[in-house]
Amino acid sequence: MRFDLKEILLDADQRGYAVPAFNFSDGWELMAILEAARELRAPVIAASNMQVVTVHGAQLLGALYKHYSQTAKTPVIFHLDHSNTPELCKQMLECGYPSVMFDGSALPLEENIRKSREVTSYAASFEACVEVEIGRIIGRNEESMYEGEDYLGTAEDALRLVQESNCGSLAVGLGNAHGFYREKPRLRFERLAEINEMVDTPLVLHGGTGIPEEDIQKAIKNGINKVNVGTELHFTYLSTLQKQLSEDTFEPNVVKHMEHVVEKVKEPVKKWIRICMAENKA
Ligand code: 13P
Repeated sequence: MRFDLKEILLDADQRGYAVPAFNFSDGWELMAILEAARELRAPVIAASNMQVVTVHGAQLLGALYKHYSQTAKTPVIFHLDHSNTPELCKQMLECGYPSVMFDGSALPLEENIRKSREVTSYAASFEACVEVEIGRIIGRNEESMYEGEDYLGTAEDALRLVQESNCGSLAVGLGNAHGFYREKPRLRFERLAEINEMVDTPLVLHGGTGIPEEDIQKAIKNGINKVNVGTELHFTYLSTLQKQLSEDTFEPNVVKHMEHVVEKVKEPVKKWIRICMAENKA
């Protein structure tokens, strides 16, 4: 069955929840995401960044998606996260990905619009969904690189990018960041409300790890329909494995270790499905 992300995001908007998008690095992390989603009957997005795509190969990921979309009982969407080249977006679309993100947020607005449009035009014949970005989703300590609050997306730029690119969803920089936050994150809700007032397109919040539950739910009330989470899963994966391997008796059976890791990674996945209020929405 082919799941339609545009329809799922619309459903999220109408029923007041967000679709969680989890970043996976390998088959074990993917397994944890898909099992947790099935158990909680939640629609989910399984996202891979450029590095993961390069390592595993576009063809293999496309084939995996084909397999899961045919066998999954609840909606699963594979998504290319933060591609800064239209070419990789096109390659993933050709490999059967139903959703890609072109991240032109580091570019001048005109160039961001032009390249975003290049991807959406290409995606149209695949009936795929394209996410684009306005404002920067900052990395740790990156705030100091910008003048004032230059990294925040403005409502005017958001409207232009949405109208001129014809995108399916829009990621917004609101003071959110990838990775662990050093201080409590300060999301600019007024800016989110302004953008939500101007554009009808579903909005996306990146950098989920470390944002308090109440802020996520406030963001959902203000138009966020997709929430990205990665670091918390990777941290759970690696720290569980590290603990397993540091135990006295060496167990050479990789599967045995990884079954335990998968169970542990399912915990933050389920936690985030509930925070996004996506449980039982499939
Ligand atoms: P975190 O790794 O901070 O949870 O963010 C993930 C993300 O936004 C991927 O695009």
